[in-house]
Amino acid sequence: SRTVTRNADGAVEVGGVDVRSLAAEFGTPAYVLDEDDFRARCRAWREAFGPDADVFYAGKAFLSRAVVRWLHEEGLNLDVCSEGELATALSAGMPAERIALHGNNKSVREIERAVEAGVGRIVLDSFQEIVRVASVAERLGRRQRVQIRVTVGVEAHTHEFIATAHEDQKFGLALADGQAAEAVRRALMLDGLELIGIHSHIGSQIFDTSGFEVAAHRVVGLLKQVRDEHGVELPEIDLGGGLGIAYTSQDDPREPHEIAKALAEIVTRECTAAGLSVPRLSVEPGRAIVGPTAFTLYEVGTIKPLEGLRTYVSVDGGMSDNIRTALYDAEYSVALVSRSSDAEPMLSRVVGKHCESGDIVVRDAFLPADLAPGDLLAVPATGAYCRSMASNYNHALRPPVVVVKDGQARVIVRRETEEDLLRLDIG
Ligand code: LLP
Repeated sequence: SRTVTRNADGAVEVGGVDVRSLAAEFGTPAYVLDEDDFRARCRAWREAFGPDADVFYAGKAFLSRAVVRWLHEEGLNLDVCSEGELATALSAGMPAERIALHGNNKSVREIERAVEAGVGRIVLDSFQEIVRVASVAERLGRRQRVQIRVTVGVEAHTHEFIATAHEDQKFGLALADGQAAEAVRRALMLDGLELIGIHSHIGSQIFDTSGFEVAAHRVVGLLKQVRDEHGVELPEIDLGGGLGIAYTSQDDPREPHEIAKALAEIVTRECTAAGLSVPRLSVEPGRAIVGPTAFTLYEVGTIKPLEGLRTYVSVDGGMSDNIRTALYDAEYSVALVSRSSDAEPMLSRVVGKHCESGDIVVRDAFLPADLAPGDLLAVPATGAYCRSMASNYNHALRPPVVVVKDGQARVIVRRETEEDLLRLDIG
């Protein structure tokens, strides 16, 4: 986060607020999100892509009504992939035409709600869905704007990408075996659909622009094929999300303007060479916008030194508020934030309070040897895919999202209570 400083007594301040007062007022664990940083990242993406492109924030990374309002104000659009995300977006006033609906198995009900609301696009993911969306639209007397999601045969990994002939996964329609072209053919024939473009999403937490460039090249190839076969120039392409962020100091992420430049160049050059008018570009960053804007604040509980191994530092949350370490072997950093310390560094593992040994928040970290119960730790870069993937495992109460701005803190998603848990349990 951009506005992190240490004050005179060594405690960290974020957005002008001391973490000790955050813990006292809102309790721990808590996600602490810096609104100015979030808005600055939205603006950086808007400015990088300019007026001839659209930035759709991927709501799956983290969505709340406050977030929807910020996106609206900063001129971003929103990608949703469920009825719940759609409902959140609409209830916070995002204009439907700025919403895109995703998903590999959208229910008829989800499709009906989206078409009725008038969403700007539905991204079609299978042959069956082409028919489903068309028939819902026809029944409701609408013509739904749609894109077709294609798999371009670029498999993105954390630091590299591997080009494969065919991707063995559930999303999209493959370019390589002609399914994507067949999907275009079918979509163009249906009255309920207005096919506006092609969509590609190659993966997530990517540090290299070359995977996106290969994707852009292959998507433009399909646009040419569509023009040649049908005499139709599709006006839009979406190249998905996936730009990586720095979780630790080893990570070296690209900036939005770097990816914007690379994509615009390739699309413009190749379309111009093929005599196609340059399509409107869109992208769907989630992690790169919200990830760095929040950290998780924990209180240290039990500390258990294991002779010759490491020290296990237990915090008051764990895999229920951050599943990413257990699920993806994700790396995080951690810092003592309630005071400064000159003590020797101690090899530590920050673990949660859940009933399994895989409940690790930060696998390897150095924390000061004078660490004590009651100290506050911060794990940075937990804005994306932490609250949104949080669970009630062991009947944990999901932590609040506290927003800091101009020296003030306010809750945008409150902490769950025992009443919340018991309300669902009606047996
Ligand atoms: N667009 C589509 C179609 C997607 O499937 C995704 C992510 C995005 C955009 C946004 O990607 P981002 O810019 O946030 O990388 N839970 C995992 C990440 C799963 C991402 C799924 N789709 C994690 O915690 O790393």
